[in-house]
Amino acid sequence: MPRDSLTITDNRTGRTYEIPVEHNTIRAFDLRQIKTDPEDFGLMAYDPAYTNTASCKSRITYIDGDRGILRYRGYPIEQLAEQSTYLETAYLLVKGELPKPSHLKAFDQNIRLHTIIHENIKKFIDGFHYDAHPMGILVGTVGALSTFYTDAKRIFDAESRRIQTHRLIAKMPTLAAFAYRHSIGMPYAYPDNDLSYTGNFLNMLFKMTELRYRPNPALERAIDVLFIIHADHEQNCSTSAMRGVGSSQVDPYSAIAAATAALYGPLHGGANEAVIRMLMEIGSKERVPEYVKRVKAGEIRLMGFGHRIYKNYDPRAKICRRIAGEVFEVTGPNPLLDIAIELERIALADDYFITHKLYPNVDFYSGIIYQAMGFPMDMFPVLFAIPRTSGWLAQWIEMLQDEEQKIARPRQIYLGPEKRDYVPVSERPE
Ligand code: CMC
Repeated sequence: MPRDSLTITDNRTGRTYEIPVEHNTIRAFDLRQIKTDPEDFGLMAYDPAYTNTASCKSRITYIDGDRGILRYRGYPIEQLAEQSTYLETAYLLVKGELPKPSHLKAFDQNIRLHTIIHENIKKFIDGFHYDAHPMGILVGTVGALSTFYTDAKRIFDAESRRIQTHRLIAKMPTLAAFAYRHSIGMPYAYPDNDLSYTGNFLNMLFKMTELRYRPNPALERAIDVLFIIHADHEQNCSTSAMRGVGSSQVDPYSAIAAATAALYGPLHGGANEAVIRMLMEIGSKERVPEYVKRVKAGEIRLMGFGHRIYKNYDPRAKICRRIAGEVFEVTGPNPLLDIAIELERIALADDYFITHKLYPNVDFYSGIIYQAMGFPMDMFPVLFAIPRTSGWLAQWIEMLQDEEQKIARPRQIYLGPEKRDYVPVSERPE
């Protein structure tokens, strides 16, 4: 009997099956042969929220949640955050290798070429209500881009995929910044392609009447590092949305709109906003123990804590904590930081958090940094969506090139009524 296999005995029939094990995984479809009689549909695996199901094979991002390890294409996140730039990291994710100097220059140039959005998209943004959430505007406008670039439907054409990749990475900051300017009633600031990717983003957000906007280099670098650590995180909710919707062979703008919508939720990209609301509700360091008591009683959750995969300190949270210090040297301190540090100190020493393996995640400190830099809370998930675009695209391209992938279509266990006959409304009792 081969060692890399699983022997299953079906106690309903007494029959034994041998199922191959590859990469520490069995193929769920191999269970289908397990039947009580020839008419039986066969055994399925039930896994709501896919907590123990691998939906793909991937070569992009590696996470070891127990040890707090995150790597893109093999490179540790700490090294990328220290030494790389967001655009270089985006290249790495999408193409699989770090670029040669000339390739990085060309990639950077191609992104700069595509930062401007069609004037009609600007009119869409004008049409949103003055207090529209910028994430809602982003979902709508990125989806609308599919109607401007009809060549994007050629998803199996490598050249078309390359151009859409450049367009999406380039235009997401412009859409995001325009959504922000709309929400505060300011005229849109057009891209300045002499600035870096993140420098230009800050320009489109914060330029006032000056002829040329000059970003603060420390803040420009801080945003760039935050973009690096948010660029990919393997098969999370929004990436699964990207792959799931993309598996219908729709264009990438529509799939990115779906992924952005998934990121909008408070349990995913909206958690850093929830952290700020929580810290404001706590109000002072002295009130932390009382708040932790309510968390332990199950009344509320500690936002920015816990993760489906990390059962250790999220390595991105460590980087965020370091950046917070650097940003506060420029902006002055954010009083919420003291409360956050106290909360972390108390929680990490508490039995409830230790036994539940709850540690700070990336969102615990990122919101405090964004707030200190002058971003309103509504913009926090948008600041997540911009860099995650490169990760979504990398995963989408990998999915399209994977011969084992098909349109995503999970099964269900039907527990509804058996067949019954329709009764006209006039004959139904009140
Ligand atoms: N505060 C208090 N208890 C918690 C928390 C928390 N933040 N997170 C999990 N638990 C407890 C939970 O009550 C449960 O306890 P018990 O087993 O005694 O009933 C246990 O831990 C397992 O919780 P779960 O909900 O089954 O865990 P999950 O893997 O489904 O949830 C999570 C992961 C991130 C949704 C959850 O930890 C959470 O709601 N955290 C707060 C929201 C947050 O910070 N989200 C950002 C995630 S990181 C950014 C991203 O990737 O988008």
